[in-house]
Amino acid sequence: MKFFIDTANLKEIHQAAELGMVDGVTTNPSLMAREKGDWREIAASICREVKGPVNLEVISQDASGMITEAQDLIGFGPNVVVKIPMTMEGMKAVHTLRAMDIPTNVTLIFSPVQALIAAKAGANYVSPFVGRLDDVGHTGMDLVSQILSIYDNYGFETEVIVASIRSTSHVLESAMLGADIATIPFKVIRQLAGHPLTDKGLKSFLTDWDSMNKKK
Ligand code: G3P
Repeated sequence: MKFFIDTANLKEIHQAAELGMVDGVTTNPSLMAREKGDWREIAASICREVKGPVNLEVISQDASGMITEAQDLIGFGPNVVVKIPMTMEGMKAVHTLRAMDIPTNVTLIFSPVQALIAAKAGANYVSPFVGRLDDVGHTGMDLVSQILSIYDNYGFETEVIVASIRSTSHVLESAMLGADIATIPFKVIRQLAGHPLTDKGLKSFLTDWDSMNKKK
């Protein structure tokens, strides 16, 4: 499973890249708005820092505005993927962008049939938001499982990016289901490394080593 980092923060991207955990990056307007500075400079820096796909989102609501924005966004680097919202206008834009060879990620997916039509329109990626479904009493990971079955049934090549990840369990379940990609906040990437028994074991190894050396 590929790991994308879900952030527009360059420091987080750099730190996660040092761990070998950055196969790509996803941003959205809310994540961009959290950062200080001009979003265009931030986007350009991310594209320089990361070799893999860098997802940048449009804010237009109509297909022609989305297509114009997409043409601008791909100027930031050869690795840009354009995030398009899951709307009828969005599907129109995805269909046109596919013909123009501009890669797209359809975002804000909350149902399996939304993922089906995004794939039919020609999306390269879809982003089901598991955490936000959990927040309203659904089981977000069920959606991922349904999308993977549908894509498998019909041989769609659209890749599934599990998004709105809130916990290490979301990452585990994504991997168990065979999702193509998990896009993970830096906080959760850090949590993936931790286990209380690792800490306990390490502490006792070091204590034993010290006591051996004191005996000499
Ligand atoms: O990639 C989409 C993701 O950023 C949404 O996450 O935590 O805002 O639901 P969240």
